[in-house]
Amino acid sequence: MYRYAIIGFGGLGKKHLSNLVNLESKRGDIKLCAICGADIKSFKENVKLNLGSVDISNIDFSSCNFYEDYKELIDTEKPDFILSTVPTYLHEEICVYALNHGVHVFSEKPMALSLTDCANMIKASKENHKKLMIGQCLRFDPAYTKLKEYIDNETFGKAYRAEFTRYSQKPAWTWKNWILDPKLSGGCPVDMHIHDVDLINWFFGKPNSLHSAITEKKAELESVFTQMFYDDLLVIANADWSMTQTFPFEARCLVNFETATVILEDGKITVYKDDESFSPNLAENDCFTEEIETLLKLIIDDEATDITSPESVMTSVEIALAEIKSAKEKKEIIL
Ligand SMILES: NC(=O)c1ccc[n+]([C@@H]2O[C@H](COP(=O)([O-])OP(=O)(O)OC[C@H]3O[C@@H](n4cnc5c(N)ncnc54)[C@H](O)[C@@H]3O)[C@@H](O)[C@H]2O)c1
Repeated sequence: MYRYAIIGFGGLGKKHLSNLVNLESKRGDIKLCAICGADIKSFKENVKLNLGSVDISNIDFSSCNFYEDYKELIDTEKPDFILSTVPTYLHEEICVYALNHGVHVFSEKPMALSLTDCANMIKASKENHKKLMIGQCLRFDPAYTKLKEYIDNETFGKAYRAEFTRYSQKPAWTWKNWILDPKLSGGCPVDMHIHDVDLINWFFGKPNSLHSAITEKKAELESVFTQMFYDDLLVIANADWSMTQTFPFEARCLVNFETATVILEDGKITVYKDDESFSPNLAENDCFTEEIETLLKLIIDDEATDITSPESVMTSVEIALAEIKSAKEKKEIIL
């Protein structure tokens, strides 16, 4: 039996647990042993994220121990693996502590706030021979997976232009509003926009160069607009998390291939060719379930793939940090 703990029990901690309890009964080889958070009073409360509500009212916590200190949890419980779903400024610290104590780690996106922190996480994983996976969940989304298949297989010829857009109302659920302080979260470019940056990196690799602009009308680093330049490809990526509270979350991607334009929106893909348009059938799993199933394959079955590579996710952080530098210094950055 693999015993796991969740460290950081807010929006994403609860989201993952709601999937994990289903997998516990389906697989029979994993068991929640403990939860750690900074605010024990909020442990049993449901939560509303920009990607929907999470209901944990039916979860049985009778065999789970609760902690407010992650070191005490790791030292006492000695779990086989943890899910670290703490605010981003704590990712590196908790990940390295767990790996150094012989525990496999799943750590939420973005990997960390600096490349030094990302490198420390990878080093601790390698030195301790323990697995590290970062939760770039859209790599597990059926629609984005289909789009990657089109790109890799050149189903409609080569991709030569792509646009990624992501808009959200101001994030309002986080503990002590940590997410709104860019020193703690990286702001919109490193937090929300990293989803698109990671997809761009996963689909096309690191761009040769990029040029970005930001706005800071309502909050620091509230939005980013970037052009990324490749040998034969132009990518435009655009994100803003300062929308009003009634604005519906929106994520959209368009890729122009030689013989088709493909649009991904609301979890659905539409392919527009000259003589027909169609929507392919997609797998039904949601990305968070698929992500955790992949994590279990990595830890329990030792199945590592490119999709779980922390080095690849570190490159996404490098790109997002370059976007901020480009915007602040008002110049193109060569990568
Ligand atoms: N994959 C996604 O789509 C997605 C979506 C939202 C957030 N995230 C990421 O997940 C992480 C957590 O975000 P969230 O929205 O759940 O935040 P949150 O504020 O809702 O939850 C964070 C939790 O961490 C706890 N915490 C704070 N300090 C702690 C400490 N020292 N030890 C243990 N627990 C501590 C707090 O009590 C809080 O409950 C962030 O890195 C965020 O970027 C990912």
